[in-house]
Amino acid sequence: MNHPSSDQGALGEPAVVVVADPEALASAAAARVAGALVAAVAERGRADLATTGGSTPAGLYLRLTSEPLRDQVPWADVHIWWGDDRYVPRDHPLSNVFGVDEILLNEEHGVPIPFDHIHPWPTNRAIGEGRGPAWCAATYAAEARATVPHGPDGVPAFDLILLGIGPDGHLLSVFPGSPAIGSGELALAIPAPTHIEPHLPRVTFSPAILGAAPDILAMVSGAAKADVLARILDGPRLDPALSAGLPAQLARRASATWLVDEAAATRLRLR
Ligand code: 6PG
Repeated sequence: MNHPSSDQGALGEPAVVVVADPEALASAAAARVAGALVAAVAERGRADLATTGGSTPAGLYLRLTSEPLRDQVPWADVHIWWGDDRYVPRDHPLSNVFGVDEILLNEEHGVPIPFDHIHPWPTNRAIGEGRGPAWCAATYAAEARATVPHGPDGVPAFDLILLGIGPDGHLLSVFPGSPAIGSGELALAIPAPTHIEPHLPRVTFSPAILGAAPDILAMVSGAAKADVLARILDGPRLDPALSAGLPAQLARRASATWLVDEAAATRLRLR
């Protein structure tokens, strides 16, 4: 189902695909991710996937570890990155890496991505050595710049960026009014948000990565997201740098597909 392009924003409008429920969302997302990874490896010999945190991707990871997708993807050529993380150790249950380690990279059932292709934010080292979140962000930005293909502006072009959105309209760890918007930094340390859980400091790429990526997949599930999703996709485009803004509108662009379940889609305009 395609989103109408009545809004002529310079970014264009995304495709919006509505599926029945979280299971269908996970299956559709997994098929798209596998397809993007296969295509990137065929085209340039490697695939760089930037994944997201939150609870939504768990089903997607599970399907990637199961047939038929498990055998279709050339995992040895896949690199995995994170768009953002919480400033906690990798094995902390609230780390965005934790869910990937538990399912996608599980020692027994996970997929065979080489160890040195897994690129978590260096929170363990930053915390262990007392270097702090700003160092963590700067180090990760340097690693991505050195490893992922990029244009003259130095913004890494991930083959696919997976996104979730928060009830306040955030994406990555870019909250409404965030200093990450227009800062010029590729990655930033963000103080713990007080308006949304978990109240933990974050490290995040700036939304500039969205402009460099050829393909973005946003996944939205559940009735609790219905209102904010309608404001993001059907409402006026707001300035994300304002506290009343919706940073997730930065993924309302032609290079993105929004995969949404029926419970989350109830307030979207009929299309
Ligand atoms: C984070 C995420 C964040 C997340 C959304 C959706 O660190 O919190 O990267 O952007 O994707 O908040 O989270 P849910 O999938 O849990 O709704």
